[in-house]
Amino acid sequence: MKITFYGQNSLAIEVSGKHILIDPFISGNPLSKDKVNIMSLKADYILLTHAHEDHILDAEAIAKNTGAKIVSNYEIAMHYQAKGIDVHPMNHGGNWKFDFGNVKYVNAVHTSSFPDGSYGGQPGGFVIEGEHKSIYIAGDTALTMDMKLIPLQTKLDLAILPIGDNFTMGINDAIIASDFVRCEKVLGVHYDTFGFIEIDHDEAKKKFFDAGKDLMLLEIGESIEL
Ligand code: NI
Ligand code: MN
Repeated sequence: MKITFYGQNSLAIEVSGKHILIDPFISGNPLSKDKVNIMSLKADYILLTHAHEDHILDAEAIAKNTGAKIVSNYEIAMHYQAKGIDVHPMNHGGNWKFDFGNVKYVNAVHTSSFPDGSYGGQPGGFVIEGEHKSIYIAGDTALTMDMKLIPLQTKLDLAILPIGDNFTMGINDAIIASDFVRCEKVLGVHYDTFGFIEIDHDEAKKKFFDAGKDLMLLEIGESIEL
């Protein structure tokens, strides 16, 4: 499983020969807009955690360019189906076996409205299992006890957690979250994009290190292999 970071919560995952994009927000991200051309991205699936603009901005354009299927909660799926895009609706607690592996839509504590204010369902995260690897993409969320449910069924290889604070968990809560999901290996996301979520990278890494954990912060376009 190969994971590439495109800023904020935007990720590309290559697994079982399929290309999955998570929360594509690139053309509006000052950190990534000049580095990544959304029309060059491959996608068989686009997974959306919730309806906020910093997660969905480029989903429609990429889906129409690639023919990718959008996977999200019911309300978000219906929003894109009405635009003629192929969708797979899910809801909290549900699993589905896709051709690349299993996806579960899990709880997040956040809000989820579209940029025009219309209802985007309840926000979520994803547990993705494929090629004998399991990752948790928390999406935008507070620290929540529901995270303790994930390791009851899944041994995670990587937890992708928001660390920017203000709109989501910050560093200290993300360290506790990694305890809750029983995964010491964390990829930080949702930081530095706007003034509200700027972080000190060295301080963040030191706090994780002092807690016996490994925080990875990737450059835009940088990849890791699991
Ligand atoms: Ni959000
Ligand atoms: Mn967000």
